[in-house]
Amino acid sequence: MPRSRRFAITGANGQLGRALQRALGASADVVSLTRPQVDITDWPAVRHAVAHARPHIVLHCAAATDVDGCERDPEMAHRINALGTRNVAHAAAAAGAWLVAVSTNYVFDGSKLTPYHEFDGANPINSYGASKLAGEREALAATPRCQIVRTAWLYAEDGHNFVQTMRRMMAERDEVSTVDDQFGNPTYAADLAGALLHLPDCAPPGIYHLTNTGATSWHGWATEIQRLTGARAVINPIPGALYKRLASPPANGTLVSLALDRLGLQLPDWRDALARCLAP
Ligand SMILES: NC(=O)c1ccc[n+]([C@@H]2O[C@H](COP(=O)([O-])OP(=O)(O)OC[C@H]3O[C@@H](n4cnc5c(N)ncnc54)[C@H](OP(=O)(O)O)[C@@H]3O)[C@@H](O)[C@H]2O)c1
Repeated sequence: MPRSRRFAITGANGQLGRALQRALGASADVVSLTRPQVDITDWPAVRHAVAHARPHIVLHCAAATDVDGCERDPEMAHRINALGTRNVAHAAAAAGAWLVAVSTNYVFDGSKLTPYHEFDGANPINSYGASKLAGEREALAATPRCQIVRTAWLYAEDGHNFVQTMRRMMAERDEVSTVDDQFGNPTYAADLAGALLHLPDCAPPGIYHLTNTGATSWHGWATEIQRLTGARAVINPIPGALYKRLASPPANGTLVSLALDRLGLQLPDWRDALARCLAP
């Protein structure tokens, strides 16, 4: 990989896309591809945009991420997450670029009793997970110069995420109910972004799990948000069965990495990351 290299970022207006741009800094050579500039489901447009950008590395963050929306419209989910990823991967290959494609813990069914590592079998239980898994397979088939990075429970200072939703609800209500029998790894987009930029230099192609260290339930996460913000609302634990949603999340959505163990790319503990995100 050359020292001075150009990045192309799909989904550049999303929470991870914005975090990547912040991590790269103003002086970096970056082509930010937003949805108005290029719809990833439009192959001629994607091929042209990536060829024109001439990147060394494509960071593919564009996705349909509304999990219930994907359940309502599985064809939309597959068009964006599977076909869109096929298009981005083939465009990256045609441009001679390395591809880092971001995926999700929702490729797993959640029945395992311990955290999922990279070599566990995927078996999605909702349309979002199925469409993301199809996208992983498309990317790996399109180019050998590809890293799939599965992450979980992503949040940032901005955007639509659990931390910002909880902060708003805790300010508006006296009581907030949160699910205490579904587990994941809250992951700060800024931490993930920093590590993603190093991955092409230090690891071979393949699938990687990358989250902040440690795991908790939605309830544990909300309780920590409350502690850090000093919010007064009472946080009640409820079972997932009482929180009706269109899409079922995996009960155990926790990830661990075997593949990154020795590469020094471990992200800090999730509580440390949350405190940095919420610091005034
Ligand atoms: N959020 C999570 O908790 C989470 C957890 C695990 C993995 N991930 C994965 O992490 C990656 C980044 O997620 P994120 O949280 O940053 O998502 P996000 O904030 O929802 O951003 C996704 C971006 O993709 C864009 N996009 C959607 N459809 C598109 C299309 N057809 N063409 C071009 N752009 C399109 C969206 O544009 P618009 O804003 O115009 O819609 C948005 O800017 C995704 O691959 C996601 O699956 C996320």
